[in-house]
Amino acid sequence: MPAVEHLTDRNAFLLRGDGFAYALAVTPDGDLRHLHWGGPLEPADVAVLLDDDAGDFGSNTWSNPRAHAEELVAHGGRRLDETALKVEFADGVRALDLAVVSSAVGPDGDELTVRLADRHYPFAAELHYRVRGGALERWTTLVNDGDTPVVLDRAYSASWALPWQPHWEATWLAGMYAAETQVTRRALGPGRLVLESRRGIPGHAAQPWLALDAGAGDEAGAVWSVALAWSGSWRLAAELAADGRLHVTTGVNDFDLQHPLAPGASWTTPVTAGVFAPAGHDDLTDRWHAYERRHVVPRSDVVRPVLYNSWEATFFDVRPESQLELARRAAGLGAELFVVDDGWFAGRDDENAGIGDWTPDPTAFPGGLKPLADEVHALGMRFGVWVEPEAVSPDSDLFRAHPDWIYQWPTRPRTLARQTHLLALSRPDVRAHLVEALDALLSSAPVDALKWDLNRPLTEASDGLDEAGSVWIGHVEGFYEVLDRLRALHPDVWIESCASGGGRADLGVLSRTEWVWPSDQTDALERLSIQQGYAYAHSPHTMMAWVTDSPTYLTKREIPLRFRFHSAMTGLLGIGGNLAHWSPADLSAGAEYVAQYKRIRATVQYGTMRRLSGAPDDVTAVGYRSPSGDQVAVFAFAPSVRHLRRTVLLRLRGLDPAAVYVDAATGARSSGALLMHHGLRVGLVGDYASELVILDRT
Ligand code: GLA
Repeated sequence: MPAVEHLTDRNAFLLRGDGFAYALAVTPDGDLRHLHWGGPLEPADVAVLLDDDAGDFGSNTWSNPRAHAEELVAHGGRRLDETALKVEFADGVRALDLAVVSSAVGPDGDELTVRLADRHYPFAAELHYRVRGGALERWTTLVNDGDTPVVLDRAYSASWALPWQPHWEATWLAGMYAAETQVTRRALGPGRLVLESRRGIPGHAAQPWLALDAGAGDEAGAVWSVALAWSGSWRLAAELAADGRLHVTTGVNDFDLQHPLAPGASWTTPVTAGVFAPAGHDDLTDRWHAYERRHVVPRSDVVRPVLYNSWEATFFDVRPESQLELARRAAGLGAELFVVDDGWFAGRDDENAGIGDWTPDPTAFPGGLKPLADEVHALGMRFGVWVEPEAVSPDSDLFRAHPDWIYQWPTRPRTLARQTHLLALSRPDVRAHLVEALDALLSSAPVDALKWDLNRPLTEASDGLDEAGSVWIGHVEGFYEVLDRLRALHPDVWIESCASGGGRADLGVLSRTEWVWPSDQTDALERLSIQQGYAYAHSPHTMMAWVTDSPTYLTKREIPLRFRFHSAMTGLLGIGGNLAHWSPADLSAGAEYVAQYKRIRATVQYGTMRRLSGAPDDVTAVGYRSPSGDQVAVFAFAPSVRHLRRTVLLRLRGLDPAAVYVDAATGARSSGALLMHHGLRVGLVGDYASELVILDRT
């Protein structure tokens, strides 16, 4: 069965993926009508949907701005609700009047393109659909076929119509710096829920991701979810009418946007992915994880290495002897990748200088990075460095040579953030420079990995000075181009995405990097809720987590080593403490945790994850089952004992009820049925108690 079927007799399309169907049709008037997004349907059902006229339009033009749900809600006529497309033609007309002119199913049968053209102007919108397992990808190409410019005021990737439900609940991932991705759940009232970033990066305040259900639980109930693959300013709006009609639009934020399309030019929006999960929020998470693993994240067939990162150990005081000492101890713990964070390059003694000049500090590294990289390799680890390529310090050779390479208004002060400006990656010459500079860095020494950071927003979005288009778009396209060219030049280099922690963790950057640094917050307790939110939408094989020192850098909280390791072991285990200060006992305990992690990491990174409890002030627990089902790893945490509770009973999910599971530490045997229907008893006493139980299926 092809994923996309054209039902030619009614000019309708049925798109079927893993567990979902999506249907649309061209009406006799040339409208593109939305028919269905939800559980599986057969072709015969589509004809019934076509004949099913909700009849709620009539002459009442106040309540419903359109006769039926539309695939593309374009500004014009009485569409005065949340639209996905708004343009201005050269004559000042700002309304669209689009009709379908053609459609085509892609050669592999999993893609559909429907072209709508304006009835008056030579302007077209091509709607693209691609079935990707349990996800449907959508994006739009806007085409100016005329000989005068068209300005895109708003060009979202898609508008998603959801079927009527008696009430709606929204789940999203909101937060702030050092407290990203907190699971947030509210009932949706009539009106608009707007999630967005206006910062030029996705930002810390919310992920471009939203889930909607009518009261679903972990294991039951339909959930619809939408995400955007865009690493810049984005917007996601869920508009609910009082009669229950809900549609969601998402795309590049139209805040401050005017994107000119020159005569003959076209522009393609980023992809938005939609996931329908018939069986609750567990199912939703499984589907997002599967989508990222199979269709988004590079190298998703390889387990991630245990990392050591030097940031919290040495901050800007990067010297080869102390890095090497850290590297020796990290290798002793079992780390496999050693990353020198900020501070290794010329002029970088503190925040005030050096960004932009990606050459090693000549005093600390007279022979460049190669001698250190060689020593790290000799210790059996791969070698990586931190970079912040899009920023530039005013006190840098790059800025002195090219003061015009930043975003700036000629008549306004330039906004410094963390003592840097933002390089104008909208410009081809700046992009070319960055590719050259980073290529030179990666060629100067055997560097296996980059941590790619950005520690400031885009301010002074100085477009309109030429015809190149909006820098809100151009910057992100430049970022992608530089990353893509660099990856092509150095295909073996692994890249971590960071923007002051989790400021850039969207599907767009995830398609170009191996993992994300989800937060600068390394307090192992704070981290639990950040990680629970991050892993709601993203696969744990992209979720880096470090064990750092106690008291922790940002909160000064003291947490035992065991809890710190367990917390970091629920994602990609990294170590970020100053190992020079670790006691022999801590070093040997650390080595045991690393060894234990290596036994379960394939399960954690690529298995099925279940949130077993998520109460940040009380018990947090999460379980992972390996893809084969042979291994189960359960983590439980409690900041303190409550009342007389000394143990918790965790009901596991997704096990084989008939199988017997053996506790790898105690040898205790339990059936899957017992573990799921009664529970796994885990002891949690005292302060900062944590437990890891590994179960092997016999
Ligand atoms: C950002 C990152 C940190 C660290 C510093 C270095 O804050 O999120 O992990 O790399 O920059 O300056």
